[in-house]
Amino acid sequence: MIFQADLLQGQVALVTGGGTGIGAVISHELARHGAQVAIASRDPEHHRGIIGEIESLGQEALALSADVRRPDQVQTMVQQVLDKFGRLDILVNNAAGNFLCAAEQLSYNGWKAVVDIVLNGSFIVSQAVLPSMKTQKGGNIINIGATYAWLAAPYLAHSGAAKAGVLNLTRTLAVEWAGYGIRVNAVTPGPIEGTEGVSRLMGNPQVREATIRSIPLRRLGKKEEIAWAILYLLSPAAAYVTGHNLVVDGGMCLGSRQYGAEG
Ligand code: NAP
Ligand code: COA
Repeated sequence: MIFQADLLQGQVALVTGGGTGIGAVISHELARHGAQVAIASRDPEHHRGIIGEIESLGQEALALSADVRRPDQVQTMVQQVLDKFGRLDILVNNAAGNFLCAAEQLSYNGWKAVVDIVLNGSFIVSQAVLPSMKTQKGGNIINIGATYAWLAAPYLAHSGAAKAGVLNLTRTLAVEWAGYGIRVNAVTPGPIEGTEGVSRLMGNPQVREATIRSIPLRRLGKKEEIAWAILYLLSPAAAYVTGHNLVVDGGMCLGSRQYGAEG
């Protein structure tokens, strides 16, 4: 145990896309550290496993159905959290969509689907939680980035541009909302083992091996390592940290390919 078990006691968290992959582990770790957790995504079937896990920890959890691209559904989602728990302290904008496609072939709908989920969704949900966080005189928003948003993102023009936008949104909201006591930070994963993201982007074993060779720490990340970075940013130890992007990628985006790739 790195953090105290009661780190988030009394706090209520909303995790978008919190039923699968990295989001499910984030939801689990927030609950394990005392938070009551609401999980929202389009398909409630995705929530079953994690809701059971959280309840077995003795914590309350709420499963919600919402598409982050739909402001009306997002308003209802936030109201449902407030109706159930009476407050909202933590938002994790984790929901995302992604697929590999050359920009030349990418249809406008394909571009729009991903930009709408990743960038517009993060904005819509952040704005929707603002009134309750303002009333409470504080809160924490964590946006999930991606390392490929730093440089060029071949075959990921939609997602790379959207995630780059999310990083700028993180900094802007951190400044605009600091006066309300709200901290806004990002956590940027490198490739994470056992996720839909990695299976979509690294189905080919050669791509996977080449990726691992380009990571100075020579392995893919673990879902828990993303959750632990979030716990730090939510903890009192990070009370003076806002607008930060905490990169959790084994050094991948340091551009060490030429020096670290052999052996
Ligand atoms: P994942 O399991 O596919 O999670 C994405 C989640 O988003 C799903 O639970 C999905 O649930 C939800 N979602 C998608 N569209 C939505 C919408 N319109 N409205 C509401 N929810 C929606 O993916 P993951 O690989 O764990 O990725 C989690 C996060 O980490 C993402 O932000 C991703 O970009 C980031 N990331 C991942 C990696 C990696 O290696 N996996 C690397 C860098 C960054 P529904 O289908 O039920 O809606
Ligand atoms: N290659 C090229 N285009 C693709 C594609 C692919 N692999 N997958 C979807 N598209 C295009 C579709 O053809 C469509 O465009 P069109 O109308 O011009 O044909 C457009 O994207 C929207 O597709 P649709 O399936 O209607 O979107 P959706 O809103 O139901 O789903 C996605 C959104 C496409 C992002 C879907 O992959 C998804 O739900 N992803 C969530 C899980 C995920 O991506 N996890 C990884 C997170 S990192």
